[in-house]
Amino acid sequence: MIEPVHECLATRVRDALAQVAGRPDVDPQVRPCANPDHGDYQSNAAMGLAKELRRNPREIAQAVVDTLEVSDLCQPPTLAGPGFLNFRLRDDFLAGQLGAVLKDDRLGVPTTQHPRTVVVDYSSPNVAKPMHVGHIRSTVIGDCLARMLRARGHTVIADNHLGDWGTQFGKILVGYRRYLDQAAFEADPVGELERLYKRAHEESERDEATLTEAREALVRLQAGDPEAVALWETFRAVSQQVFDRIYQRLGVHFDVTLGESFYNPQLGSVVQELVDKGLAEESEGALCIFFRDDPELADSPCLIRKRDGAALYATTDLATLQYRLAQWHPCEIVYVTDARQQLHFKQLFAIARRWGVEAELRHVYFGTILGEDNRPIKTRSGEPIKLSELLDEAEARAYEVACAKNADLSEEERRAVARIVGLGALKYADLSQNRVSDYVFSWDKMLSMTGNTAPYLQYSYVRIRSIFRKGGASETDLPAALPCPEPAERTLGLLLLRFPEALDQALDDYRPNMLCNYLYDLAAAFTGFYEQCPVLQAAPEVRHSRLALCQLTAAVLKQGLGLLGIEVSERM
Ligand code: ARG
Repeated sequence: MIEPVHECLATRVRDALAQVAGRPDVDPQVRPCANPDHGDYQSNAAMGLAKELRRNPREIAQAVVDTLEVSDLCQPPTLAGPGFLNFRLRDDFLAGQLGAVLKDDRLGVPTTQHPRTVVVDYSSPNVAKPMHVGHIRSTVIGDCLARMLRARGHTVIADNHLGDWGTQFGKILVGYRRYLDQAAFEADPVGELERLYKRAHEESERDEATLTEAREALVRLQAGDPEAVALWETFRAVSQQVFDRIYQRLGVHFDVTLGESFYNPQLGSVVQELVDKGLAEESEGALCIFFRDDPELADSPCLIRKRDGAALYATTDLATLQYRLAQWHPCEIVYVTDARQQLHFKQLFAIARRWGVEAELRHVYFGTILGEDNRPIKTRSGEPIKLSELLDEAEARAYEVACAKNADLSEEERRAVARIVGLGALKYADLSQNRVSDYVFSWDKMLSMTGNTAPYLQYSYVRIRSIFRKGGASETDLPAALPCPEPAERTLGLLLLRFPEALDQALDDYRPNMLCNYLYDLAAAFTGFYEQCPVLQAAPEVRHSRLALCQLTAAVLKQGLGLLGIEVSERM
């Protein structure tokens, strides 16, 4: 296993700080230098420590330098400003490290020393409703988190928490009985179910009898009436087929798909336990949990049983939590949903803590996808855009580009390129945003071959591969060292070593955009290198190591995009 450069340096600086401070746990704060003229990495730790010890920061920094043993990695560290330490990697260390990474299947990404079990709850669409554009974010972000965690050696349980239970089924049952269009159901079952739901919903707003009928249907379903249950199972099965087709297109996999209904039998005992433990109390006939001593939630009690005895979303989530803890003993559970569910998860986590749950619980939330008019994206007629149609359009648009650019590709190859580029563009547009903000959806931007887009990165990969094809150069025999004497080579080499660091940054607060930014910087550094450093025309020795740099860049791009759930194509 190769120790990533930033970790090597951090360990050394931490040891030196420990000696100077007289305690072991000072954060070494090793980061890439903001200004590459000052060095490759810097540490700002001396300033904080000086403040703590009431000493002069430069003196502390000097003391750290005097204690520090990094001569095998760096040139002598330099001191700058009020007490920054700057490090410039030794050329031979950089070259040797690149050689080691080139030989490593994991491209320098170490397996964690502290493997954790993490449940990632994502996608989680609702049965009998088409997956819409909002679900793409949960699906794509959740899948990426699962991939990144696994890449570091953690155990991930990818859990699709389907919304397959709830009051809507009463209305769907009524709609189905009254208004079913059999042909429409056969052609597009989920679309028809949605129509039936809407129709019955509208009707029950106007008409008391319909509302009553829907309530009764729901009661029958909940009581296990065979006819109602059989219909509900059909709804679930047809929905699952539609979801599966989308997951297959997107290359998204789950380890478990347990819907809300799975936890239904546990709801009673969960509620009872909450009452017994004194967490839940009666309020106007309903059962509630109050957070009186929590300023943030004091005004937002959480309802866990309605007056009519019905359980709620939160009740199901508590039962789900209990099941997951018992089943997998996770260290952490991550919920990927949109930002509008923040209150729900704050409440859930607060209850869990009082319930004695020790696992780390995290809500990874994201903003809304906006149309060009800066409002939540909709179709022309004002409906939410269906995910399947969005995927079709992405492929269709990418197909146009593939045809225009590649007259010599066969129809089949063009279709394959269109799929990889179209879906890649769509995923990347989502992942490259700071997930908490809203973003404006733009086909032109996401499919552009320039800028921070998937097609740009995929094209960078293709370009490198074509160097090997056109130049007739074969993959190199993996030299032990890749010297980087030219500035553009050095910039590229340093970035290639930062792949594990970028992955950790992305995992730190579950922000895939950190990895996107890294890949974009890498592709840009490659362009700089390729403009300034001839590869195929260079003298044999130099050509050899430059080809190895090309090969390593292609490998990191491919692996990095793979962590985002994005494929590469050999031609484009
Ligand atoms: N089905 C919900 C929705 O579409 C998301 C469920 C998220 N997961 C959870 N455990 N609450 O909004």
